[in-house]
Amino acid sequence: MPATIVVGTQWGDEGKGKFTDLVAKEMKLVVRYQGGHNAGHTLVVDGETFALQLVPSGVLYNHTIPVIGNGVVVDPKVLISEMDMLESKGVDCSSLVVSGNAHLIMPYHQELDALHERQLGDAKLGTTKRGIGPAYADKAMRVGLRVQDLLDPKIFTEKLQVALDYTNKVLTQVFGQPAVDGDEIAANYLNEYAPRIIPHIGDAVSIVHDALEAGNEVLLEGAQATFLDLDHGTYPFVTSSNPVAGGACTGAGIGPRHIDRIIGIAKAYVTRVGAGPFPTELFDEIGDHLVDVGREYGTNTGRRRRPGWLDAVMLRHAVRVNSLSELAITKLDVLDQLEKLKVCVAYEIDGQRVTQLPYHQSELHRATAIYEELPGWKSDITAATSLSELPQQAADYLAFLEQQIGVPIRLVGVGPGREQFLDRHA
Ligand code: GDP
Ligand code: IMO
Ligand code: MG
Repeated sequence: MPATIVVGTQWGDEGKGKFTDLVAKEMKLVVRYQGGHNAGHTLVVDGETFALQLVPSGVLYNHTIPVIGNGVVVDPKVLISEMDMLESKGVDCSSLVVSGNAHLIMPYHQELDALHERQLGDAKLGTTKRGIGPAYADKAMRVGLRVQDLLDPKIFTEKLQVALDYTNKVLTQVFGQPAVDGDEIAANYLNEYAPRIIPHIGDAVSIVHDALEAGNEVLLEGAQATFLDLDHGTYPFVTSSNPVAGGACTGAGIGPRHIDRIIGIAKAYVTRVGAGPFPTELFDEIGDHLVDVGREYGTNTGRRRRPGWLDAVMLRHAVRVNSLSELAITKLDVLDQLEKLKVCVAYEIDGQRVTQLPYHQSELHRATAIYEELPGWKSDITAATSLSELPQQAADYLAFLEQQIGVPIRLVGVGPGREQFLDRHA
């Protein structure tokens, strides 16, 4: 059976968690393929809210096996507390598999993340300070520790020593900080975390392929989003992994031939946390309204998200780099009270009208949005369960987006709850 990817198409927090949970209803496996606990995926089921950082959003179903793929960076302390949180809410995590090839986030990664940000001063990226960048940097430098190293204390301590020989020089000689104590880290990781993580360590690649070969459906859940992608995002204001659909192949260990459905998730407006260009950003009362009604504060860090109008130029680019087969629109209900809605259909850059995303970052910084204005619907759509229950203006808004973006819009979110969605094709 083929695999499906859920991928963010903007700057994160589009509602990937909710839609992963929704689509997971038909899946045997749900695999997180990249990122780490910089992610915050919120699910609201029967009035109860679950904020997930590492555990895949399919965990709430008994029939799905949640898998943390090799492309993820895992802070074992965070993973243990997330499993404890889920268990305390009655969610069974015993089937969770963590790829032995996933890399470990170490305490010095978090320290380096904060030090790099401080070093950048006004040019800081606004990272989540979870150690994501330094952990992926160590992976690329080939001095990272992997989840499988928790299985062998000798290997773990040898690799830690190699990593610290370098990292302690950076900490002491570049940043003037005290060296970190390898014995203390080893004690925490091997004595405290390893006993809890080891029962979950597995061969995620084989598990995924066995499921596909047995005719089961596999869902690949992305964190972050297209414009936070290390290669395709607004570099350097990006994360250090590949959230795009291609990253699902490397981060889960499957080839593109296995994938037949790629669902891009887009909010009906745009938000961004942290620094970087944002052509449709709003600094007025409409922006405040979107933040208030959409509760746009980070699940993870509590930071206010920067709001803006929906940007079709970005979405057209996301369709290309992810080969999206469809788009899901979330948080349509957040627009309920607005008189007029704007959608950015092109940019003006140096007097030229541009309909595709410029590759040159300076042009994006100079871009001003060209909008089309549509009427709002001024009514509550949170109970709508089918297209026919939407006001005409809301249905027209979706049809306009579909025509602008060029792929079908099927699933539409009308509230945070699991049941608050409609399928335009149903
Ligand atoms: P993710 O990181 O992409 O999984 O998204 P987050 O969970 O960080 O942020 C999305 C927020 O919007 C969460 O609080 C969700 O509960 C909420 N949400 C998701 N879909 C909808 C929707 O259709 N309407 C509304 N009002 N809220 C939604
Ligand atoms: P989910 O999966 C929104 C942003 C940070 C920062 C940049 C780099 O919930 O959509 P990092 O800590 O990754 O080095 O930070 O990326 N960022 C996110 N923004 N949602 C996320 O995840 C994010 N994960 C990272 O704010 O601008
Ligand atoms: Mg989020």
